Order: sequence, then structure tokens, then C-alpha cells
Amino acid sequence: MSFSSIKQTVGYGDTVLLHVGYDNMLPMIVTKGMTHQTKFGALRHDSVVGKKFGTRIQCPKGWIYILHPTPELWTLSLPHRTQILYTTDISMVVFQLDLQPGSVVAEAGTGSGSLSHAILRTILPTGHLHTYEFHKERAEKAKEEFHQHGHSGCVTVTHRDVCGEGFQLDHIVDAVFLDLPKPWECVTSAKKAMKKQGGRLCSFSPCIEQVQRTCEELSAQNFSDIVTMECLARHFNIQYAKLQNLSFESSASESTADKETSNRESYSEPPVKSASATLSSSRHKEVKRGGSDSGSHNFPSAVPALNMPGHTGFLTFATLTCH
Ligand SMILES: C[S@@+](CC[C@H](N)C(=O)[O-])C[C@H]1O[C@@H](n2cnc3c(N)ncnc32)[C@H](O)[C@@H]1O
Repeated sequence: MSFSSIKQTVGYGDTVLLHVGYDNMLPMIVTKGMTHQTKFGALRHDSVVGKKFGTRIQCPKGWIYILHPTPELWTLSLPHRTQILYTTDISMVVFQLDLQPGSVVAEAGTGSGSLSHAILRTILPTGHLHTYEFHKERAEKAKEEFHQHGHSGCVTVTHRDVCGEGFQLDHIVDAVFLDLPKPWECVTSAKKAMKKQGGRLCSFSPCIEQVQRTCEELSAQNFSDIVTMECLARHFNIQYAKLQNLSFESSASESTADKETSNRESYSEPPVKSASATLSSSRHKEVKRGGSDSGSHNFPSAVPALNMPGHTGFLTFATLTCH
């Protein structure tokens, strides 16, 4: 199968992603006669063959969805051999490197291949990814996965230390991506790999000291537009809050001062009559969805999650012009 062309139904040898619940997805290569254990019990591979991707499958203790792989879902479910890049950073990398079908890219290190899959989807069908990894087993595993995912023809995996031995590419790439402990050590080699008309480079580093050294080296090597950024996704949860029904009648006992206070807090939508429609003091209290009693009702509101996804790393981008 190929990650880049959508298949309708599952066949033997396909990689399917089992959606077992919120934040819980597992890859499975469909193999004749095999059984996969999930938290909802055993799933026989044979039982998914011929089913449409997206189908809900009954397991002994619950339901599982069988999904078609995409780079985004693969990032969420891949077997981690290293730390990986996630979609928030990946989207910025693909955009800032100006990647498009036909682009030629050099990447080091390959790691678990999370970014590689997104690069490949973008540069297909005529582009090429040269990816480097100095850990032998990781390089071999990545090669095997690219083959399994239908990418063999557009990716070259090389087992090499790019800092010591360089990319060994001569002016053929449009963009370089570095996710290495010492990216500054391979800027010279990256520059040599880049096309004579120039291109874009990105380096991902968790620590600002690494960023600083990389920027100094990029500047020394005549890269321009050097920009470092951090991408953080801000998640909002939907919560239901209890809102007292609006009263459009002025209470005779309400003092003028009370009225002014009410008006300042007034809820001006919908603008019905001229009454002071006051919000209950319990308006931020979280209540169950759908419930309502006389005198109040529930409304959905967006609340930032208490646990925000934190720092992953800094992305440094730079441009190389004609060289
Ligand atoms: C954090 S991982 C990369 C993760 C990858 N970006 C992803 O999204 O899956 C860094 C990888 O770089 C490799 N590496 C470190 N130094 C290297 C070097 N000098 N040459 C080649 N690979 C190197 C490590 O073995 C590791 O697998």
C-alpha cells in the first residue's frame, strides 16, 4: 500500500491504524492468520480484510475504528525509537522550507521517520528525500517502514554520521532539515548539498545554546533571513456553564446603584427590550451538558486546557542565496 494514495478497502500487507479510543492509536500490518491484542480484546487480522477504511469493528469488549494512514496519524501512532517531531512543528517546517511536489530534500537524522513521512507526502511524486541516520538499526528500520508505506522510489536512507562525513551531495537539494545535537558541525556540508541557486535550511534544537551556535555558524557561512521560532499549540476544551435565564423585568427593590452594577455586567445579546439582563454569579460554574432547569440553562464555552503542551524545541530557518 502507499500512504500517499488512498485505498478504499483493507488488504493483506496494508498498514492500518487502529483507533482504540481518544489519544490511543496503534499501527497494525494486516497479516493472514494473525491476531492483534487490544484493550478491547483480540482482533483477528482476517476480520478486517475487505472492510472499508474508516469502518467500526466489533471486538469482544468494545469497538475499534480501522483508519487509513496519513503522515499526521502516523506521527501519533508510530513506534518511537527516538524523540520525534509533532505536527505543530512539522507544519511550520514544510511551509517555511517552501516544499512542494518535485522538491529535493536532505534530512538528518532520520530518527523515527515522523517528519520524513510529511516531507515525502509533500514532495511526491517527482521529489526525493535523502535522509541520514548514524544509528544502524534505526536507519534499517526506517528503510523498512518507507518500503512498507510505498515510498521506496522517492527516499534514500543512508547510514552515516553527517557531522563527521557530511551529506556527500553536490548542489542537488532545495532544502535541508537538521535534527541533530550539533547541527552547526554540518552547515558547511549542508551548504554544499544545496543547489547553486540556493534554498532553505531548518534546524530543530531543544536548547537555546544550540540555537545560538547554529545561528553563528549560519551567519558565518553567509546564510541570510535567519529566524528562530517556537511553535506552541493552544488547546481549548468545551465546557458547559450554567447561565440563569435572563430577567427583563426591573425589580422594584433593585436600588439605582444595583441597576448600574447590573448594567455594567449586562449581557447585551439579544438586545431585547431595555431591561437590565443580568448574568448569574454562577455563570462560570461548570455543569453537565444538556441539563436545564427552570430559571437557568446551559451554554457551551471554550476554556483553555489547564495542561498546555509544552516546549519541544526551537526551529531556526535560514535562506541561502546564489552561491
Ligand atoms: C531526535 S531524532 C530525529 C527525529 C526525527 N526528526 C523524527 O521526526 O522522527 C535525532 C536522530 O539523529 C540521529 N543523529 C544524531 N547525530 C547524528 C549524526 N551526526 N549523523 C546522523 N544522524 C545523527 C540520532 O541517532 C537520532 O536518531
